[in-house]
Amino acid sequence: MRAVIVGTGYVGLVTGTCFAEMGIDVICVDIDENKIENLNKGISPIYEPGLDELIEKNVAKGRLKFSTNLSECIEEADVIFSAVGTPPDEDGSADLKYVLDVAKQIGQNMNHYCLVVTKSTVPVGTAQKVKQVIQEELDKRGKNIDFDIASNPEFLKEGNAVSDFLSPDRIVVGLESEKAEEIMNRLYKPFTLNGHNVIYMDVPSAEMTKYAANAMLAVRISFMNEMANLCEKVGANVNMVRRGIGSDPRIGNKFLYSGIGYGGSCFPKDVKALYKTGLENGIELKLVKAAEERNNEQKLVLFNKLKAIYPDLTGKTIAIWGLSFKPETDDMREAPSLYILNALSKQGCKIRVYDPIAMEETKRRLINLDLEYCQDEYEVVENADALLLLTEWKEFRLPKWDRVKEKMNKLILLDGRNIYDGNEMRALGFYYEGIGTK
Ligand SMILES: NC(=O)c1ccc[n+]([C@@H]2O[C@H](COP(=O)([O-])OP(=O)(O)OC[C@H]3O[C@@H](n4cnc5c(N)ncnc54)[C@H](O)[C@@H]3O)[C@@H](O)[C@H]2O)c1
Repeated sequence: MRAVIVGTGYVGLVTGTCFAEMGIDVICVDIDENKIENLNKGISPIYEPGLDELIEKNVAKGRLKFSTNLSECIEEADVIFSAVGTPPDEDGSADLKYVLDVAKQIGQNMNHYCLVVTKSTVPVGTAQKVKQVIQEELDKRGKNIDFDIASNPEFLKEGNAVSDFLSPDRIVVGLESEKAEEIMNRLYKPFTLNGHNVIYMDVPSAEMTKYAANAMLAVRISFMNEMANLCEKVGANVNMVRRGIGSDPRIGNKFLYSGIGYGGSCFPKDVKALYKTGLENGIELKLVKAAEERNNEQKLVLFNKLKAIYPDLTGKTIAIWGLSFKPETDDMREAPSLYILNALSKQGCKIRVYDPIAMEETKRRLINLDLEYCQDEYEVVENADALLLLTEWKEFRLPKWDRVKEKMNKLILLDGRNIYDGNEMRALGFYYEGIGTK
């Protein structure tokens, strides 16, 4: 079985590497020559725990290869996964340009039966568009070649992607033919041996499942953020409320944390795209819209707390712990930190930042902001008038507070992820605020 994975980003590279780990021959293809050149030298374009080791191992075994030449790779493929980006278009809908470009190339080059699987997150109906584009290209070439399409949305979490892919909660597959089911069965058999569940369904349901999952999680986060904001006003502690409601099995205790809003490459764009799909179909998805609105406001909650403490922030030194949208990733797409840093910069603050992994990516994205990039969590607090915790990296959980206190100018700590105990911090001499905590 030979699989070609088109798009070698967070999803494509992890998918390709994990399939190779299970013994499948994989070629990962990307149009970004620099990315492929680096991968061929053993340099991964992303930070993802455990990934580098697996890439190295599977390249050495000859099961994992990288290429920029899709047409050549199609020659050898039994199954082609499309894992290219689906960024938001100007109106919020998913931009399918990359997905349809890949379909076109497949149609232009396919000479034998292939199963074409969409792994990118795409609106309902996209797999049919992919099918149509491939067929049109085959017709142009006068070729009568059988092929199938399938939808296999990805549920991995950045920061835990390898482990999620190798031991998935579930694998969702949308299909139209028995032949496609046979191929997907063979491909995922090594993953299901440990009892992991493959859920087969029709293609539109599979496409919809991915959006419904992300929207549900986004609504849950925004709901807890609203509860947190109200807790502050009424003298309740959201951490207690979370434990209180999370013990109800109908609610469950996962994904109930309040903070400075969701970010990353998926929730923000998928929530927008789902809302757009609703409108196109005559349904206003009001909960989905509300989740987005709450999130937009939540990103600046910590900044507003700081502004309430220092109405004039000009010349104040603000230290930042954590920049990536969540721990264990270098991904900065839609990270709340981007919004907070921009807001601080407009106030004329001196901004000192530290993140264990995402500093290079921040430099690239915030080239116009004057930020002081520091070596570690202690250097960054030098002379700080306040410290803002934005990403809950493990190394921020138990810092040596004496060292921090020695260096800071004013002991103000704003905890955007509720990882510290307010009473403990106050006992240490800090002015402390979390999100909805006491
Ligand atoms: N990142 C996540 O956590 C995650 C999780 C689940 C699903 N998804 C979905 O998976 C898809 C990919 O996301 P990602 O984060 O991996 O994106 P990414 O931006 O990291 O990677 C996409 C890659 O596709 C390449 N590409 C674009 N056009 C191409 C073409 N014609 N041929 C070959 N390569 C091409 C780009 O150069 C890039 O390397 C998106 O639809 C996303 O919503 C992402």
